[in-house]
Amino acid sequence: MVRVSIIGGSGYVGGELLRILSAHPAMDVVSVTSRRFAGKPVHYAHPNLRSVYGGLRFLGGDPVKAVQDSDVVFVALPHGKSVDLVPALLEIGLRVVDLGADFRLKDPEAYRKWYGFIHPYPDLLKKAVYGLPEIHRDELKGAQLIASPGCNATAAILASAPMLREGLVSNNVILVDVKVSSSEAGREVRPSTHHPEREGSMRPYSPSGHRHSAEVVQELRLVGGREVRVSLTPHAVGGVRGVLATVYGFTSHEVSERRLLQAYVRMYGRERFIRIVHRAVGIPSPDPKYVLGSNYVDIGFAAEADVGVVKGFAAIDNLVRGAAGQAVQAVNIALGLREDAGLEYIPPHPI
Ligand SMILES: NC(=O)c1ccc[n+]([C@@H]2O[C@H](COP(=O)([O-])OP(=O)(O)OC[C@H]3O[C@@H](n4cnc5c(N)ncnc54)[C@H](OP(=O)(O)O)[C@@H]3O)[C@@H](O)[C@H]2O)c1
Repeated sequence: MVRVSIIGGSGYVGGELLRILSAHPAMDVVSVTSRRFAGKPVHYAHPNLRSVYGGLRFLGGDPVKAVQDSDVVFVALPHGKSVDLVPALLEIGLRVVDLGADFRLKDPEAYRKWYGFIHPYPDLLKKAVYGLPEIHRDELKGAQLIASPGCNATAAILASAPMLREGLVSNNVILVDVKVSSSEAGREVRPSTHHPEREGSMRPYSPSGHRHSAEVVQELRLVGGREVRVSLTPHAVGGVRGVLATVYGFTSHEVSERRLLQAYVRMYGRERFIRIVHRAVGIPSPDPKYVLGSNYVDIGFAAEADVGVVKGFAAIDNLVRGAAGQAVQAVNIALGLREDAGLEYIPPHPI
């Protein structure tokens, strides 16, 4: 069995990692850290895990020491908190998956612009593999450092990649509109993200310069093989889980929906976790409700040839395919395990 640890195990992503890993056929959770819950059983932070983990308790103190007897460590800390920790974990020979943003961008200068700090480990940025399996599967094989993508970015990239890959967008501008549920903001209570304040409201936030734009640009540039400009606006909506991205591209020639279908099927037709959702295959539009708890991405598309617009849609569970599930999928690939090991959960209906 692969010995696995989680740093930041009391947060929402840490909780989902614990839930998913409890059913993983080849991984055993050996340690999990938290400052606030140190010494307490894991179900004190995650009541859904009662009776699942027996005596497993959160460890406080030095996180490197707490996880040193593992093979793989998932780091689920707020951004900026893993940048100095990850090198220490690599130093003692661990395979590391960072769920935050500290190793996602290849360009060290981009950290100054988007995150306001000078990245101290540019060599590790080169070494880190962006953990989006549909784009980086080959590089993930054997990867020692995996930078797990942001949830808005995951949905935005997957919804638009087939259009750019097949050159269907003429001016290389992509507009991204993301609807976001409250768990995306994590467990820490802040006035603007606290669920009672958000519930019932619908509002844009960070309407210019949202940080996930940086990784969306990085990845779409790679997929399309040329420059791309991205304008991303997230909207806080009701609900605890779920992200829906709608992306728009402009075309100078007529692009039919049939042409889009070909592009999406060519890129995703054999992907284990991507389900193409379109009236052509008898299913209406993507809806996060039908992927909740699972690692699936439901993807759709539409064309308005007379207007010169193509659209893509992606629905994910932000905590699973946008975080914990995607990270486990990436580690499965890194270790040469079955890609869906531990990830076979099928979303319930009705919910
Ligand atoms: N929520 C999502 O949908 C989502 C999706 C994709 C990626 N992510 C990323 O995943 C990471 C974790 O997100 P989350 O939603 O799980 O956040 P969260 O619920 O706020 O949990 C953060 C965890 O980090 C620990 N922590 C907080 N501040 C710390 C500090 N200064 N030093 C050490 N530990 C600290 C907390 O535990 P203690 O206070 O108990 O130590 C907690 O376990 C973030 O980088 C986030 O951007 C989140």
